[in-house]
Amino acid sequence: MTFTVEELAVPTDIDAADAADYVASIALRNEVEALGYGTRDLAPEPVEVLPSFHDAESPRLLFGVRVDGALAARSFLELNTSEESPVAWATVEVLPAHRGRGVGTALAEHVEALARKHGRERLYVYAVSPDGPGERLVAPTGYGSVPLANPEVRFLLRRGFSLEQVERASRLALPLEPARLSAAVVAASAVSGDDYRLHRWVRRTPERWLDDMALLFTRMSTDAPSAGLEEPEDVWTRSRVVEAEEREEASPREMLTVAVEHIPSGRLAGYSSLSVPPQQARAVMQDDTLVLREHRGHRLGMLLKVANLANLAELRPGHPSVITFNAEENRHMLDVNEAVGFEPIGHEGAWLKRLS
Ligand SMILES: CC(C)(COP(=O)(O)OP(=O)(O)OC[C@H]1O[C@@H](n2cnc3c(N)ncnc32)[C@H](O)[C@@H]1OP(=O)(O)O)[C@@H](O)C(=O)NCCC(=O)NCCS
Repeated sequence: MTFTVEELAVPTDIDAADAADYVASIALRNEVEALGYGTRDLAPEPVEVLPSFHDAESPRLLFGVRVDGALAARSFLELNTSEESPVAWATVEVLPAHRGRGVGTALAEHVEALARKHGRERLYVYAVSPDGPGERLVAPTGYGSVPLANPEVRFLLRRGFSLEQVERASRLALPLEPARLSAAVVAASAVSGDDYRLHRWVRRTPERWLDDMALLFTRMSTDAPSAGLEEPEDVWTRSRVVEAEEREEASPREMLTVAVEHIPSGRLAGYSSLSVPPQQARAVMQDDTLVLREHRGHRLGMLLKVANLANLAELRPGHPSVITFNAEENRHMLDVNEAVGFEPIGHEGAWLKRLS
């Protein structure tokens, strides 16, 4: 059986006349992800992920396969526009009822061919791997593994991808006991000392910190453990921060950020952000957390995390949980998260295919 891969319209805004396929593709994505994690806690709403499709530095193309007129599978291809970064990201998701018939292969072949046509050398895929029985494939980092018999693992291996890293998804049940949380903030700031001071904001970065946040975002791309993925440096400038935050204004989610200033230099040493959905019944997503290398070892990671959880409890209380993703080998960050009370809910593999 052959399947026709169609490019699906990415609407300029969620109320546009051509938004239906895009909306259906996000519902499909969420259904497949929920099967992998056993929870719908992670599911974003279509309007919330739309800005990522319009990122000027890394736009996404959307594809689908229909069976009897209904969307049976989707895939996206994200192409970094920088010529020095010959990389692309993709994913393929097929509804369970349509698996094992070549739909996934058709979509994967399509996006791989397109990535090659655009001169990309490396293709990255993040795939959820639910736990399963039998032999396991261990990440080359030595931390984390995925079941070899899983369909996504077989599919990616057969297509020439290699497993480079395993990420852990963890969940923190809310609310935290207020006294415990404030004690944790006090304990972490006692270790960090008088050289550091916290700042916080909701959504847009204050003018004063734009240059510092551009540096921190750039360092996020190089300083987070990336195993054998060779992820390129993603350079942020002041104007890119402003543009990205302008685009995010279209999302109903709010970003709560806590940053720490190194008082002697007047520069930011780290930050942590939580992405909060408008509906109180939905989970909050932990976004980036970074402490610059030169400021590590002062308990700033813990300080930022607990300060932002206290911030969340104060400004946007009532959400059931916070979800976070960390590389299995990122022991420092996992130590902080485990101490705060995060518990593992599932894993995803980071896969790489060399296209040339
Ligand atoms: C991984 C995934 C995309 C595969 O989709 P799929 O449509 O089942 O993929 P295919 O049908 O092309 O290939 C799957 C299996 O069916 C077999 N197959 C392909 N065409 C077939 C056909 N015409 N008849 C029978 N079997 C067929 C393939 O050989 C393959 O078998 P294998 O895994 O034992 O080697 C799907 O399982 C999925 O959506 N998983 C969750 C999302 C995910 O993890 N995505 C990450 C991968 S990018």
